[in-house]
Amino acid sequence: MAEYKEATEAIIAGVQTTSEQENSEAIFMTSSFAYRSAKEAQAMFSGEQEGNVYSRFTNPTVALFEKRLAAMEKGEAAIATSSGMAALMTLAYTLLQSGDRVVCSRNIFGSTIKFFDTYTTKFGVDVVYVDATDYDAWEAMITDNTRLCYFETPSNPLYEVVDVARVADLCHKKNALLCVDTVIATPALQNPLTQGADIVMQSATKFIDGQGRCLGGALVSSQALIDEFTAFMRSAGPSMSPFNAWVLVNGLETLDLRVNAQSKNALKLAQWLENQPKVEKVNYGGLSSHKYHDLAKRQQKNFGALLSFVVRGGRDAAWKVIDSTKLLTITGNLGDTKTLVTHPATTTHGRLTDEQKREAGIEEGLIRISVGLEDIDDIINDLKYALGSL
Ligand SMILES: Cc1ncc(COP(=O)(O)O)c(C=O)c1O
Repeated sequence: MAEYKEATEAIIAGVQTTSEQENSEAIFMTSSFAYRSAKEAQAMFSGEQEGNVYSRFTNPTVALFEKRLAAMEKGEAAIATSSGMAALMTLAYTLLQSGDRVVCSRNIFGSTIKFFDTYTTKFGVDVVYVDATDYDAWEAMITDNTRLCYFETPSNPLYEVVDVARVADLCHKKNALLCVDTVIATPALQNPLTQGADIVMQSATKFIDGQGRCLGGALVSSQALIDEFTAFMRSAGPSMSPFNAWVLVNGLETLDLRVNAQSKNALKLAQWLENQPKVEKVNYGGLSSHKYHDLAKRQQKNFGALLSFVVRGGRDAAWKVIDSTKLLTITGNLGDTKTLVTHPATTTHGRLTDEQKREAGIEEGLIRISVGLEDIDDIINDLKYALGSL
């Protein structure tokens, strides 16, 4: 249980000052560790004695990131991975075996669908997809052999919001585990573990870093499950680099401030976009007109930095708007202090079939914006100019 309030945990959780008495967190760029004797090495390798063994699965800087993230997510423990997708791989390969079923949201990051369909089904795992906001569909799909249920809330890029407690109840009735991807909300805005989820998956590459510098991911859960994931990590090795952990520890310190300031900008932008004649639809939970506004308000502390909108005129129009922006950066990433613009249908979701895109609601006219920390007037002016090109 966290001893301090959230803002304090983000600054101090996990800190262990070395004998050098450094004030800023040290970085342990080492692949292995040295022992005073062969006996000590044997004791640490076997786990009889606590200590570092090899940075594939134990490293003090990575452990600091794990402790701090676990405190912020209100979980017992966390395991860091080399990317968000490495966290998904760790989750799937540790928990699943032939004959198991995964029930996954249809409205989810493209690579998640690709990973489940290509790399888990070949080991005899059955993966089925549901509309994540259709709770009858969850109930019907969660069979006795369902081991894992998985969804994003809010979803990227359509901002669908799923009731965590409701799906958790359905999962637990059938002894299935629920893992929630809250990359878009971040631990600053939502803690699914306190709402009934068993596991939280994070891509630290996004808001936790916040400045687009490095990849990272994590799973946060009970100590028992994290121990299982750590055993997989020891054998399989999708580990986080100590350097990335050090960057991400510093990212966690300012996460709350950044995400709340970005949420303020995103709301202003969404409200402005809603009134533009060339915009057909705006997806942002902060808008009172949004289908999931009330649920987002109940489940989250704020609405976050990610929004998307559909322009009239399909792909040509969307590309024209994107290419006409000057301030915004065209990229597949999200979560930076810079405002980022993406055409999901041809990038992040480009590997999905046309049918999968249709089912997931990824239209050709859809543009995703990850709102940054620039002055909101400049962001709006840039998009005003870009929409004017249509
Ligand atoms: C919602 C969501 N989950 C997971 C991931 C995967 O994270 P990573 O790029 O760190 O592997 C992404 C990446 O864009 C994402 O947007």
